[in-house]
Amino acid sequence: MNALVEVFESRLYAGSVADEIVASISDDLADKGTCTVALAGGGTPGNIYRAMSAPPRVTEVEWDKVKLFFGDERWVAHDDTLSNHRMAQETLIAPLARYGRPKVFPVETTLDSPGEGAARYDAVLRNEVAAQEGTPSLDILLLGVGEDGHTASLFPHSPLLNETRKMCDACAHPTDGTQRVSITPPLLQKARRIFVLMTGEGKSEMARRILEGDDAPEKIPARLVLQSKARVSFFLDSAAASKLKLHR
Ligand code: 6PG
Repeated sequence: MNALVEVFESRLYAGSVADEIVASISDDLADKGTCTVALAGGGTPGNIYRAMSAPPRVTEVEWDKVKLFFGDERWVAHDDTLSNHRMAQETLIAPLARYGRPKVFPVETTLDSPGEGAARYDAVLRNEVAAQEGTPSLDILLLGVGEDGHTASLFPHSPLLNETRKMCDACAHPTDGTQRVSITPPLLQKARRIFVLMTGEGKSEMARRILEGDDAPEKIPARLVLQSKARVSFFLDSAAASKLKLHR
């Protein structure tokens, strides 16, 4: 398995992961003057984004040279409390505005349908992210993982898991039915650097199955990252890592 596993004490987690992400962005900016980052949604990343957008870390990045995308988005207005864009706006984009203005590419959820939103976002990704062998290759992809093993909005047994051409597509949450737009495996697996973010006891069994089990991605889509050529880092807090035997 080509993944690095780092475990942090819960109280140090957000700052430690923010250090790693900021360092990775800075490395890309030093190497090539640009960096494309796809943000994770949900509840885990908020404190990490807050740590990234506050001193001392916020001044380590030339944010004007960064492009921000979304690994997935709920099909709601950007001011809806469910919106990943709203969460990123509140925890990262607005707080860092006094230091710099990254170019932000949200999923346009005002279009007529999630399908149209996905088609538009596919074009944005192809236009704004440098390609490797014809597929946009994100410099950094941040991913959370659900207790069911989903990542972005790639849920177990989702038809999106078989997508081979589109960079993103429309889908629905399997239980609550909320419409979403999610990146697909071709884009996920083409990323250069993937950070997988998992915290809390509730993720411990799934962390064990992902890192020490052998379930197929059809059952645990987060295991797709292990099939990518990316540099993959799993960042867990001690609670999420509590069931790991091989990675401590
Ligand atoms: C979303 C996320 C999703 C999230 C996981 C983990 O829009 O919900 O992109 O993939 O990362 O569900 O969510 P938590 O961080 O809230 O546990």
